[in-house]
Amino acid sequence: MENGHVELYEYLVDTGCRSEFILSLLGQKIVEDGDVIETKDKIVANQGYLNRKLFYSEGKLLDSDGNAVMMGWETPLMKIHSNIICKKGKKILNVGFGLGIIDTMIQESEPTLHTIIEAHPDVYQKMVDDGWTTKPNVTVLFGRWQDVLQDYQETFDGIFFDTFGEYYDDLHDFHQILPNILNEDGVYTFFNGLCGTNQFFHDVSCRIVELELREIGFNVEFEEVTVDELGDDVWKDTKRAYWSLPTYRVPTVTFDF
Ligand SMILES: C[S@@+](CC[C@H](N)C(=O)[O-])C[C@H]1O[C@@H](n2cnc3c(N)ncnc32)[C@H](O)[C@@H]1O
Repeated sequence: MENGHVELYEYLVDTGCRSEFILSLLGQKIVEDGDVIETKDKIVANQGYLNRKLFYSEGKLLDSDGNAVMMGWETPLMKIHSNIICKKGKKILNVGFGLGIIDTMIQESEPTLHTIIEAHPDVYQKMVDDGWTTKPNVTVLFGRWQDVLQDYQETFDGIFFDTFGEYYDDLHDFHQILPNILNEDGVYTFFNGLCGTNQFFHDVSCRIVELELREIGFNVEFEEVTVDELGDDVWKDTKRAYWSLPTYRVPTVTFDF
């Protein structure tokens, strides 16, 4: 790509997407004579994380293994995401509280309903301590979105998804229920950290997620945002950097009628 071989690069990205689709199918099912004979049990991708102790320190949320769960450098990105889903007086869903950065922004739009789903007990405790569970327009659902959304009958004008430690399969599963919880003229966006330290795999992931959302009936647009160089200082005290790309692609997802 750096040497201008755009066509070749695109060919490789397409090949990457095809491989991923095939591998994902093979991972899900064992097929014999065209019949599915076994479906792999669902595992909780981030159970280890959900059992670990968390620490809030200096604009960071870290787990006891040193993994950065959420960091302050993402604030400008959260602002862009919140601008996409928020208009005054709407019903908004946010999945994953973390540092509460986007939830604080969502509150500024005076939503009629602001639902927050959070699965980690330490984060939930922080939400209780900071008064989130008693705000009049806020409903906090404590648990994994996979569990709590099953019994929650509500639809939203704006939805943001940003969990931690889950696989692409989980995002894929969330997208399958999106048509049931997003209002017809609603807007959805998600934290696009997919393979955020490798440009090629990031490009493959962005194309896959776009194709899958289109297949379900959504329109997807990516806005490219330049990310300032994040120096070593940003990642000090953390186990590893989870983002190193120069451009962040912000997805805007709406129903394609
Ligand atoms: C990256 S943080 C979210 C940061 C947030 N966007 C902000 O602005 O501060 C991810 C959050 O998702 C939560 N989480 C992880 N898996 C979850 C799940 N399956 N359901 C609900 N919350 C989950 C984590 O405990 C963590 O608080």
